[in-house]
Amino acid sequence: MINIHISERELQLPDAVIGKLLGIATTRKDIISISAGEPDFKTPKPILDYGKKVISSSTHYSHPKGVPELREALIKKLKAYNKIKTSPENIIVTTGSQEAIITSLLCALDPGEQVVIPNPGYLAYIPAVELVSAQPVYVKLLEEENFELNPDRIKEAIDRKKTKAIIINTPSNPTGTVLSKKILEEIADIAVQYDLYVFSDEAYEKLIYEDKKHISIGSLNGIQDHVASFYSFSKTYAMCGFRVGYCVGPRELIDAMEKTHHYITLTAPHISQLMAIKSLSISNSYIEKMKNEYNRRRKMIVKRLNDLNLVTKTPYGAFYTFSNIQNYSKNSFKFASDLLKKAKVAVVPGTEFGKYGEGYIRCSYATDYHLIEKAMDRIETYLKKL
Ligand SMILES: Cc1ncc(COP(=O)(O)O)c(C=O)c1O
Repeated sequence: MINIHISERELQLPDAVIGKLLGIATTRKDIISISAGEPDFKTPKPILDYGKKVISSSTHYSHPKGVPELREALIKKLKAYNKIKTSPENIIVTTGSQEAIITSLLCALDPGEQVVIPNPGYLAYIPAVELVSAQPVYVKLLEEENFELNPDRIKEAIDRKKTKAIIINTPSNPTGTVLSKKILEEIADIAVQYDLYVFSDEAYEKLIYEDKKHISIGSLNGIQDHVASFYSFSKTYAMCGFRVGYCVGPRELIDAMEKTHHYITLTAPHISQLMAIKSLSISNSYIEKMKNEYNRRRKMIVKRLNDLNLVTKTPYGAFYTFSNIQNYSKNSFKFASDLLKKAKVAVVPGTEFGKYGEGYIRCSYATDYHLIEKAMDRIETYLKKL
């Protein structure tokens, strides 16, 4: 037999349980999955119709930084919604915001340098930092602090010589926490004081509930040279499959990313970029309709989980709940596996989001309202028997 060599780098990467869960959930009809990290809605029709119309004019590579009309439209969106004033040279369009995250790390970090990461945090951060041979350093998010990033603990995590960047994520996957302006200002001060990059992942920027507001750290005074912000069309417009996102940041970093991006994907998919232009011009009512439905589900699932003693802080952003399972178990992987086997409900163990996710499970309400209700009924029946 041929010995197929796989690099040590790859072998060291964690195996994402979430991928397996999604695999099971899509093939097993008896399982209800409330684990998905993507909208259950279809892309709004005007965007799909536009895609059909322009498909024949998108058969070539685009400009490596992205279609110029898209970057022009993004400047307007960034100014109006994120309060970030920028220019086309400071934007790069990528194959989903995921590509922007890893490309920016590749361009900003040398091997052995450190990146401060929220933990629990989006599951791609740790592997992305490790793939570029840098070192993740964790800031523990505490339930009693509503999973907010604590600036004092960020300072404790910083090594003056080795730390080069802080990753922040608001609204957060997996906790649904929306960072306040006060905390963002403190993080901005830290970045300036220690001369660090802030990589601000704002993939869920438009999924904000009640009276919360999304604040982009890149809009704060005096921080522009330190911040690279990542945005996505995946969640706002239910366009996950089209793979289009973008990064706005300092010119030098964006130019470096253009070079690296050219060697990785050349360009984001041209057709998706054209559809992204269209998405920026459709009526806001398409987004509001999806958001209102997420909100309806959010209220129901938070109540149901708390009624089941799966203690859940109210999330004010994204489409996730993050529940404390201590009334039933100390081991989130075992608890999630048991739910899958015995209650036939797929949720994600908190440890998928880092070691400080132990003791929690993540549910997603990007799932049909009635299916969530049914999943809660199944969990209730299972827990009552314990
Ligand atoms: C916090 C966060 N950032 C980034 C991404 C990547 O999204 P995309 O590459 O589809 O833009 C995701 C996807 O789930 C996410 O949850």
